[in-house]
Amino acid sequence: MPEATAAVEFASPMTPVFYRVLRTRQETRDTFTLQLEPPESAQTSPFAPGQFNMLYAFGVGEVPISMSGDPSRPKSLIHTIREVGAATRAMRALKRGDLLGVRGPFGSSWPVEVAAGRDVVIVAGGIGLAPLRPALYSILAHRQKYGRVVLMYGTRTPEDILFRKELERWRARLDMSVHVTVDRAMASWRGSVGVVTTIIPRAQFDPQNALAMVCGPEAMMRFTIVDLQKRGMGLEQIYISTERNMKCAVGFCGHCQLGPTFVCKDGPVFRYDKIQPFFEIREI
Ligand SMILES: Cc1cc2nc3c(=O)[nH]c(=O)nc-3n(C[C@H](O)[C@H](O)[C@H](O)COP(=O)(O)OP(=O)(O)OC[C@H]3O[C@@H](n4cnc5c(N)ncnc54)[C@H](O)[C@@H]3O)c2cc1C
Ligand code: FES
Repeated sequence: MPEATAAVEFASPMTPVFYRVLRTRQETRDTFTLQLEPPESAQTSPFAPGQFNMLYAFGVGEVPISMSGDPSRPKSLIHTIREVGAATRAMRALKRGDLLGVRGPFGSSWPVEVAAGRDVVIVAGGIGLAPLRPALYSILAHRQKYGRVVLMYGTRTPEDILFRKELERWRARLDMSVHVTVDRAMASWRGSVGVVTTIIPRAQFDPQNALAMVCGPEAMMRFTIVDLQKRGMGLEQIYISTERNMKCAVGFCGHCQLGPTFVCKDGPVFRYDKIQPFFEIREI
């Protein structure tokens, strides 16, 4: 019965699977990480760095959240979430053993294969480090395939810095450079102060042979693109991850439209020259 088969295929990406909370971890004042395990009969779908799931807090709402875990360890799902409203607040309240609906993975991914043979420049702002972390895991797992690897990460204050221990481990490596900066800090902060773009002019990479992956608030991404261009990078060398309101996540409802594209299926990761004319347009 072809119709029945088609119906099942059509329905499946819209039907949440019940995942169980295995662990919760408070990362900062407003950000936490959930480790989720699939039902006994199911396996977690493999995902590519930059992709996202739709997470459904039952009775409250369903929202897009990027994977923040290691794509080579798909046994459980890792999501790092900033509490901003009703759905993310309900997710913060989840305890070990509670259930959460999961649909996905959806969307495009960071160009970790395209970047092979080149310097990789990663620029993250705030929670933007979470969707980039799987790309870093992937690049560092195949470190010899890449040139220089540079991570520039900015947050509002030192208290907002995500994944501190991991940043320290990465900073200790001799084969990558890690720059962390904050917008403002108390006198006790020994690190750099200033927005993340202040690092770009002095970062060590070859702009002619580099690829940039950028994720953060839209204003931060706009300034970052300008500064990467000043260093000599072309728009086709810059990839960004965009955010728009989402409902279906599979290209049916049009909620996430960005010019002629749908962020849910053509994005969220775009090569910047492909969406530049539409990136300025805010959703209604
Ligand atoms: C592809 C994609 C991937 C995403 N990945 C992540 C992720 O990994 N981690 C994560 O924490 N978030 C991520 N987001 C953002 C996340 O989907 C929203 O924060 C979430 O939908 C908010 O839902 P809510 O019901 O809690 O808040 P709402 O009630 O929808 O919003 C509450 C308030 O917060 C504001 N708000 C909503 N979204 C944001 C935002 N992104 N930043 C700042 N203010 C906001 C609203 O304007 C409103 O004022 C992603 C979004 C997209 C499109
Ligand atoms: S969320 Fe429905 S088309 Fe993208």
